[in-house]
Amino acid sequence: MTASRLIILGASGDLTGRYLLRALVELVERDRLAADVEIVGVAREPWETPGFRDHAARRLEQHAPDLSRASRDALVGRLRYLRGDVTQAETLQSAAEGAAGPVVAYLALPPSLFGSAITGLASAGLPDGSGVVVEKPFGTDLASARELNRLLHQHFAESAVFRIDHFLGKQTVQNILGLRFANRLFEPLWCADHIERVDIIWDETVALEGRAGYYDGTGALRDMIQNHLLQVLCLVAMERPDGLGEGPLRDAKVAALKSVRRPDGKDAGALSVRAIYSAGSVDGRQIPDYSEEPGVDPTRSTETFAEATLYVDNDRWRGVPFRLRTGKALAKDRREIRVTLRPTERLPFDQPHEPGPNVVALSMDPDTVLAEIALNGAGDPFSLEPACWELQLADQEMTAYARLLIDALEGDPSLSIRGDEAEESWRIVEPILASWDRGASPLRSYQAGSGGPSEE
Ligand code: BG6
Repeated sequence: MTASRLIILGASGDLTGRYLLRALVELVERDRLAADVEIVGVAREPWETPGFRDHAARRLEQHAPDLSRASRDALVGRLRYLRGDVTQAETLQSAAEGAAGPVVAYLALPPSLFGSAITGLASAGLPDGSGVVVEKPFGTDLASARELNRLLHQHFAESAVFRIDHFLGKQTVQNILGLRFANRLFEPLWCADHIERVDIIWDETVALEGRAGYYDGTGALRDMIQNHLLQVLCLVAMERPDGLGEGPLRDAKVAALKSVRRPDGKDAGALSVRAIYSAGSVDGRQIPDYSEEPGVDPTRSTETFAEATLYVDNDRWRGVPFRLRTGKALAKDRREIRVTLRPTERLPFDQPHEPGPNVVALSMDPDTVLAEIALNGAGDPFSLEPACWELQLADQEMTAYARLLIDALEGDPSLSIRGDEAEESWRIVEPILASWDRGASPLRSYQAGSGGPSEE
């Protein structure tokens, strides 16, 4: 059943302004947001509905200029505002009052408020079947993720909890499933016998961009690897699910996570890299030392680059390294899943040098699939040349946020993270964090605009 009302807790915040409002306009533009779904924003700002609408219109001007003015205006005209404390049951009760059916409460809030907002929602007595959307980060370690799950499960059914990971709404990420399971070309090769290594890379040219309040207490490992890149690993590594509904898909992902060897003791330090950017220039923009960015506490030594090499200890993947890498203020935007195949045995060609390996690369932005293969050269038919098959995917119909938001409003949690998945991800990442705390992997430095501490 589609929710009758979306309640945005934290309606004046950055997440709402940057992503949520835009996603709602996209849904309006694609005719996916039923006309009777109400949207109520709640925040402390001393506004009335017209003030909130003005704010939303300005944000959309900034973050959704490519969407039509008619759709933006239509969305803005549907917004209502309620001033109040998002952790107080009375405020939340008023926000849900008069709803014609279940509501969805979106916690677009700092994580420190998640707990009290959930308790507040529970005491407000939402209509039956209501759901809650929880943004990342889901906890800061295993214990806090468990605690958050416990609290959520006290008041909501698991199927009514949407732990958002917007990577699951990305087209290429979803395309992993088609590529793997619908093609004889790849499906039989997808194992350690044929695959040498998997690299999941999310290099960004953007630096801190004023996000110290969130990022400085989080760092690259928690920001990207604990959630987004481990989700990608799940889709690359999991066994074939029995279907793509919430049960089978999420069961298959959890099973993959459970097979990831917990990088204990020395391993955790040796198989991870952490680094921080120093001053430099990226695309002509001058970037200061990370420690001098506004709002950064240099004593925290937060990493802006992280790499972790993980092993999936099952028959399919034993011995294959999965390297997860991400960083900010790097030379190039590079967002890809790179699957490198093992060399073929005994080449019948008289090659002066080995041809490069066959690689299947899925770029997550722009959305392309690329296969690097070896063919007989155009000139000498008995020599090899590398060649590429490139497939440019059509533009994504909706951004990841819009896709996940409509799923939440329609009550489909398949593309959100299940509670046990969130906990399993922390099980994998926590030993790396602990080893860093022990100083097992020294904090390295890389110049902004470079290829990172380990050049690609
Ligand atoms: C967010 C991270 O979740 O994902 C950011 O907090 C990162 O640090 C971003 O830049 C990358 O995803 P996208 O889709 O916004 O490019």
